[in-house]
Amino acid sequence: MILGLETSCDETAAAVVTEAGEIRSNIVASQSELHARFGGVVPEIASRRHLELVSPVVHEALDQAGVTLNEIDRIAVTRGPGLIGALLVGLAAAKGIAWGRGLPLVPVDHLHGHVASLYLRPTDLQPPFLCLLASGGHTLLLDVQDRAGFRVVGTTVDDAAGEAFDKGARLLGLGYPGGAAIDRLAREGDPSAYDFPVARVPGLDFSFSGLKTALLYAVRDLSAEVLEQSRADLAASYQRAIVRALVERTEQAADELGAEQVAIVGGVAANSELRSALPDATAAPLELCTDNAAMIASAARYVEPAADPLRLDAYAVA
Ligand code: KG4
Ligand code: ZN
Repeated sequence: MILGLETSCDETAAAVVTEAGEIRSNIVASQSELHARFGGVVPEIASRRHLELVSPVVHEALDQAGVTLNEIDRIAVTRGPGLIGALLVGLAAAKGIAWGRGLPLVPVDHLHGHVASLYLRPTDLQPPFLCLLASGGHTLLLDVQDRAGFRVVGTTVDDAAGEAFDKGARLLGLGYPGGAAIDRLAREGDPSAYDFPVARVPGLDFSFSGLKTALLYAVRDLSAEVLEQSRADLAASYQRAIVRALVERTEQAADELGAEQVAIVGGVAANSELRSALPDATAAPLELCTDNAAMIASAARYVEPAADPLRLDAYAVA
């Protein structure tokens, strides 16, 4: 039994997962309401809130799994990338539990965690596959040959796809975080109402900053009243452009690499239009797309425990 902890951004999460990849509990305390009035995550506020939430969230994960620390064999924790102060809270908590109980501590890369959301039951995807990882911080195409890791074959040259969703939502007055709000509103709009450009960059990379600027110009020219009437059309057209860019590049990469399986993970993989635009891809289950600790515990099954756990440090950038 593995106890996982995740505190890389604004979700305080703990989960209990078995060696066979069965989720026994998966607790996520989101702080997004706390950060909403600032229009984005405030790192220092996130760290402080993690500190308040980490113990209760771990207790809740153990309770819901119906186990105590006596039944836990390993502790898994996100080491990076993410907000450094936020990461340190989870890492310190994990070190404390591991040291106190004499348990191995497994450091997990957050991106490996997102990919490992596919290794939990019932999905239990077997490599090799091509993986699109689209989240608030990353947009990556990954060549996954085994469960222990991946090779990056494409990335974004500017904003991440989730960042594009969040910035778009902000311009449309939909609050933070905005991906899910755009997804909902887009269902009522016409995706061909506006023609937003999708920048094509060489190779298998992505670019989303021009798209955000195009939306800014479109919105700036509208009166408050017209904006109100056009909001759903703008959301639908904007989402269509992001999804099209993601799908085109993913299909191109699958072709070039000769990948027979394609998978999508990360917060943006929760997007309904993206999921239906890639019907043959294996998508992470909705509750495992956004940040959680079950995926971290899952990845820990394929990573060696730290030799000197108390010396582990967090890292902000991949
Ligand atoms: O993976 P995640 O929880 O955190 C990071 O590691 O960044 O991803 C969060 C991102 C946010 O940008 C959020 O707006 C986006 O995922 N997101 C969505 C949807 N649900 C969450 N984007 C588009 N459609 C959604 N339904
Ligand atoms: Zn994430």
